[in-house]
Amino acid sequence: MSTQGITLNRYLWQQYKDDKIELDLLMVLEQMAYAGKILAGEISRAALVGHLGLAGEKNATGDSQKKLDIYSNEVVIDAFSHLGLVTAIASEELDEVELIDCGYDTPYILVTDPLDGSSNTDVAGSLGTIFGIYRRESTGLCATEADALRSGTELVTAGYILYSTSTILVITCGDTVQGFTLDPNVGEFLLSHPDIRTPESGKVYSANLSYYADWHPHLQQYVDYLSDRTDKSQPTSLRYSGALVGDFHRCLLQGGVYFYPGSNEQEDGKLRLLYECAPLALVAELAGGKASTGTQRILDIQAKSIHQRAPLAIGSTSAVSFYEQFLKTGTS
Ligand code: AHG
Ligand code: MN
Ligand code: MN
Repeated sequence: MSTQGITLNRYLWQQYKDDKIELDLLMVLEQMAYAGKILAGEISRAALVGHLGLAGEKNATGDSQKKLDIYSNEVVIDAFSHLGLVTAIASEELDEVELIDCGYDTPYILVTDPLDGSSNTDVAGSLGTIFGIYRRESTGLCATEADALRSGTELVTAGYILYSTSTILVITCGDTVQGFTLDPNVGEFLLSHPDIRTPESGKVYSANLSYYADWHPHLQQYVDYLSDRTDKSQPTSLRYSGALVGDFHRCLLQGGVYFYPGSNEQEDGKLRLLYECAPLALVAELAGGKASTGTQRILDIQAKSIHQRAPLAIGSTSAVSFYEQFLKTGTS
């Protein structure tokens, strides 16, 4: 038996040799993994190096930025700057699309939430990084904002890094989903979750129920149904961490549904289409799951602005379909 795991690099090299991915995409994924390693280290040391707390600024969608939000954004940008592969970045922490590498042959656009779940930074809770890669369509020297305004169906690859009890990188590769765990002793991501498939259903639901009074009555009936444990052969369980990446990761591996719906206050909810919903929707679908606004497939939505929001229900196919059904009718 081999004593060595399969490193991310080795895995991607094999995929390249088998014509499953292009060589430049291998490099892009390696750079994302590199950013993840830096962030995993820095997040674990944040309390010791003055990286906790607010930075004193607000981002484009009005969230108060944490010091780690800004640091994470810089790490991701630095990992891709002047590489000749990513020409522009749309990030939660940037007001506009930022050009990082002009060049006629620079092929990719990166969309990213560099630090997801940032309310967890100061309490050592789970955090994440979400990313998606689009092929650039414009042909000029520099990309334009329109290069980032795409629909999720055009994503070349997407994934996330979860910073928790371990650091996990989940990527789409071709039409598969692969999970790697960072071995801190050797500083490498090793294949730990090959060919991830989401269970068809699951008992967990994940949502911030403190918005209940502000939700559509059909959604309230859905939550009432979920939380009623009488006459259920498979009772449901509520799990909510405040970090989409962590809550989605649970649904991806064990089944269930995460939802962040629109409300009276925020018609399209809170989550951002381009760099939160769409990348995770691709992961969900390629793992056999589903992602929906409640009425529309997430991947079909054409982004109109880089920070646009979308309601999200994501996870097991049957659980998301059940959510859609309830939203439409108010009953199962
Ligand atoms: P971010 O930290 O990138 O702004 O994302 C936070 C998101 C998501 O991770 C989480 O599920 C949700 O916001 C939590 O919002 P509530 O506090 O409204 O539940
Ligand atoms: Mn986020
Ligand atoms: Mn964020």
